Amino acid sequence: MKATCFWMLTAILVVQGNQAADFNVKKYGAKADGKSDDSKAIENAWKDACKSTNVMSNVVIPKGSYMVGPMKFQGPCIARQITIQADQVKFVAPSDPSKFKSQNAWVVFQNINGLNLIGASFDGQGEIAWSINDCAKTGKCNSLPINLSFNKITNSVIRGITSLDSKLFHMNVLNCKNVTFQHTTIRAPDESLNTDGIHIGRSNGVNITDADIKTGDDCVSLGDGSQQVNIEKVTCGPGHGIAIGSLGKYNKEEPVIGIRVKNCTISNTMNGVRIKTWPASPSAGIARDLHFDNIVMNNVSTPILIDQKYCPYNQCKAEIPSRVKISNVSFKNIRGTSANKVAVKLACSEGNPCQGVELSNINLAYTGNNGTATSECANVKPKLIGHLFPPACQLSST
Ligand SMILES: *[C@@H]1O[C@H](CO)[C@@H](O)[C@H](O)[C@H]1NC(C)=O
Ligand SMILES: *[C@@H]1O[C@H](CO)[C@@H](O)[C@H](O)[C@H]1NC(C)=O
Ligand SMILES: *[C@@H]1O[C@H](CO)[C@@H](O)[C@H](O)[C@H]1NC(C)=O
Ligand SMILES: *[C@@H]1O[C@H](CO)[C@@H](O)[C@H](O)[C@H]1NC(C)=O
Ligand SMILES: *[C@@H]1O[C@H](CO)[C@@H](O)[C@H](O)[C@H]1NC(C)=O
Ligand SMILES: *[C@@H]1O[C@H](CO)[C@@H](O)[C@H](O)[C@H]1NC(C)=O
Ligand SMILES: *[C@@H]1O[C@H](CO)[C@@H](O)[C@H](O)[C@H]1NC(C)=O
Repeated sequence: MKATCFWMLTAILVVQGNQAADFNVKKYGAKADGKSDDSKAIENAWKDACKSTNVMSNVVIPKGSYMVGPMKFQGPCIARQITIQADQVKFVAPSDPSKFKSQNAWVVFQNINGLNLIGASFDGQGEIAWSINDCAKTGKCNSLPINLSFNKITNSVIRGITSLDSKLFHMNVLNCKNVTFQHTTIRAPDESLNTDGIHIGRSNGVNITDADIKTGDDCVSLGDGSQQVNIEKVTCGPGHGIAIGSLGKYNKEEPVIGIRVKNCTISNTMNGVRIKTWPASPSAGIARDLHFDNIVMNNVSTPILIDQKYCPYNQCKAEIPSRVKISNVSFKNIRGTSANKVAVKLACSEGNPCQGVELSNINLAYTGNNGTATSECANVKPKLIGHLFPPACQLSST
């Protein structure tokens, strides 16, 4: 008899443990009036969902506009999977940048395994911040570090989120593993400063598919330690294109390995696809297995670029060659128009020439009426395959 009771109780507990539990932010006092600060209510709903012993828990955020100050979704969680349901939800930042002293991002997701974030637009109200920010001139942009941060997120899916007018980088993806971003939308005026769309660093297994990015800086940038990153079906522009780097500015950067960019459209941007490294790198670095395939360029200033003399604001000794070794790189099936005459520029390091670079089926037309598109190459001997226009690297210097 006792044994039966024990098993029944166990069965009930197991059933409960497998159920999904909902944590509605309205029950925690969120007002959704677009004016009251709802961050504490949302954080409290998150905390309960996170420590829930249910295998799955849901933070339910009903449709509406929520003003939130700095806000943090912190793990580790007991629930094995947490879904934040935020369809038709708009988070609005306070327009006063001084509210952000307490943490270095606006909304932080940290140390979570099994996160599903669905929906939600994040309106950073950036215009006010840009008006008091002169980092385009100084290169020192850390005074207003307001952004979305995904740090130590594993085995997760971020679907259908929108970032509007962020105050600096839009989205920072750091120390993540096996995370997919689907249907991401990013909007900032093209004159906004240092607003990289999505920046990834020190992460392994990140996929970005179906993103639509219009911003003032790189649409997607991949910093040191980015490995096995797939970028697919991204439309980019205005902005500065899709970039690996910049690399080689700091000491002992981690290698960048295994990047695939494919089926993307890049329009009216300063660059298309590029790899950029600083000269005079303090230590040696590695960037390899980088593949760009099936990319349409519309009116892009330099559609294909390797720049190992990347030195904005003259912060470096440009004459000392970069120590970042670039190898196993392919640019395939890249077509469209170039706004500059030099449509393909491979400027590799004198000290560390690029190795294993392949150009295959390139067709880029110069939009100006001053001759036809050309290429420039240094310290690289690429393998040339298929139809190549402009003809590549025929007069290369090394
Ligand atoms: C936000 O961006 C700034 C500027 O790069 C960066 O220093 C800071 O670490 C970022 N914050 C987070 C939490 O990612
Ligand atoms: C990667 O994450 C997805 C989505 O959360 C999950 O279904 C999958 O099992 C994970 N893959 C590995 C190898 O852990
Ligand atoms: C990313 O995409 C690649 C190729 O499409 C796939 O093999 C891989 O499993 C995906 N990874 C994640 C985290 O979804
Ligand atoms: C990528 O483009 C190729 C060539 O146009 C096409 O065959 C393929 O289906 C596309 N892949 C996706 C996932 O759209
Ligand atoms: C080409 O791109 C530049 C920005 O790089 C933009 O100013 C110009 O309007 C674009 N031209 C067309 C025809 O879209
Ligand atoms: C080049 O990169 C691809 C993709 O990561 C990889 O499969 C291949 O083995 C690499 N080739 C060499 C010679 O390293
Ligand atoms: C035309 O191209 C040449 C170099 O090929 C350059 O020196 C000149 O400035 C260009 N003129 C215009 C109007 O862009």
